[in-house]
Amino acid sequence: MYSLKLKQHVDSAGDAEQVSGEPLWTEAVLPGCPVRAVLCVTAAVTVLLGLLWLYRLIFCPLLLRRRLDEVGYVTEKQRSRAQVANEVRRRRKTGDLPPVYPNGWYRILDSSMLERGDVKDVTVLGQQVAVFRGLDGRVYALDAYCPHLGANLAVGGRVVGNCIECPFHGWQFGGNDGKCVKIPYAEKVPHFAKVRPWPSCEVNNQILVWFHCDGEDPEWTVPEQQEITEGQWVYRGRTEHFINAHIQELPENIGDFAHLNFLHTPGFISGTDLRFTGTRICTFLQHIWKAQWEPESEPNKHCSRMFLQHTLTVFGQHFSLLDVHVVARQVGPGLVWMHFKHSFLGRGLILQSVTPVEPLLQFVTHTIYYQANVPALIPKFILRVECVQFERDVMIWNNKKYVSKPLLTKEDSCIQRHRRWFSQFYSDNSPQLQQRRDTLHF
Ligand code: FES
Ligand SMILES: [Fe+2]
Repeated sequence: MYSLKLKQHVDSAGDAEQVSGEPLWTEAVLPGCPVRAVLCVTAAVTVLLGLLWLYRLIFCPLLLRRRLDEVGYVTEKQRSRAQVANEVRRRRKTGDLPPVYPNGWYRILDSSMLERGDVKDVTVLGQQVAVFRGLDGRVYALDAYCPHLGANLAVGGRVVGNCIECPFHGWQFGGNDGKCVKIPYAEKVPHFAKVRPWPSCEVNNQILVWFHCDGEDPEWTVPEQQEITEGQWVYRGRTEHFINAHIQELPENIGDFAHLNFLHTPGFISGTDLRFTGTRICTFLQHIWKAQWEPESEPNKHCSRMFLQHTLTVFGQHFSLLDVHVVARQVGPGLVWMHFKHSFLGRGLILQSVTPVEPLLQFVTHTIYYQANVPALIPKFILRVECVQFERDVMIWNNKKYVSKPLLTKEDSCIQRHRRWFSQFYSDNSPQLQQRRDTLHF
C-alpha cells in the first residue's frame, strides 16, 4: 500500500519546516514491496510447478524405480531400510532351490536406452555383458571381459562400425561372432582371439539376450506384438524393481490361485505393507479374482496362459463397469505379457520381464503399452494399481524360503502343475547355487 508522508521543506539553513499542515502525496514509498514481490514470485512458481506436475501427470509416461531395500521389508525405527534388507538377505534360509538360471530369453534394456554407437555394461545371470548398437543399427551383445588382459569392453569401449574396441590396447571385436578383427600394434590377429557372443534380439521395443547353460542356440523366438510395432499401442510407462528371490518364485504366483483372493483382495488404496493392508479403514474397496491356468501345446510348450477375471466391489457392491479381463501369457521363464481388455477403457498390454542379476536377485520391469487414443492417465493408473498388487508379492518373496516339497491341498494342485511346466527350462548342466551363496557350479 502507498503510504502518506508530510512533505517537508528544507530551507537554506537546513531546517526542516512544515509548509502546510495538510498531508501531501510524495513519491511512492512501498515498504511492503519486497514482501509482495516474494509472494508474487512464490505464487507464480507454485502455479508453474502445479501446471508442470499436471502436464506430467496427464501426458508423460510413468517411471517408477524402486531401490532394492525400498519395498518388501519390515522396517523398524532403529534400523535403516538398507540394514534390514541386508540382514534379511544374510539370515534367510534359501531352501532346496532349483537351478538358478533357467534357459531362455531375458530382457536387458529397452530399445530407447541404446542409441547407435552406444555401449552399455549389463549384468545378467551373474555375467558382465557388453551390449552395443553398431552403426548398422543392430544390437550386439558380447562377454564384456577382453581376452587380452581382461579390461571391460563396455567401460570406455568404443563402437567402430559394427565392432567394439577395447579401451585398454585397442583390440577390436566383431559384434556378430565376437572374433577379434584388429590388433592395432600386431602384425597378425590370432584366430582364437575372440569373446563369446550372446544371441540377442530386439522385439516390442525391448532388447533381449538368450541364455542356455550348454551354449545351445535359441529354441524359440520372442513373439512380436503387432500393435506395438505398428504404433497402435503406445508406451505409457515403466516400473522397475529389484527382488531378493529365486526366479521361479515369481511366475509360480500364476499357478497359485489361493493367494489371489487373500493377498490381493484388499483395495489398492490399502497400500503394500502387508502388516496393514487388511486392517486399514479403506477395506470398503475389494478386489475379487477368478483364475484359470493352462500350458500351451507344441510348438509353444514354452508358453502358458492364465485367464484372470477381476472385479472390484465398493462397500460390497459389485460394479460391472470396473470388471477387467486379463490374459497373462508367460513366454519362457522370464517374460509375462498381461493383455488387458476393458469394455470402455480399451485394450493394452503390460510386458513383465524377470531377469536374474544374481542367483537370488531378480530385476523386474513392467512396461505398459496402450491404445493410443486412450488418455495416458488411464494406462498409468492401471500400471500404478498393478504395481501396488505386485509390491505385496514382493514383501512375500523377499522374506520367504523356497519349499521344494510344499504341503499342498487339492485346491493348490496348479502350483505343482506349474512347477512341472517350468522345469522344462532347466537342463542337467543348469547352474546350481552352492553352499556358499555367491558361488555357482556349472
Ligand atoms: S585388455 Fe583389451 S586390448 Fe588389452
Ligand atoms: Fe501375486
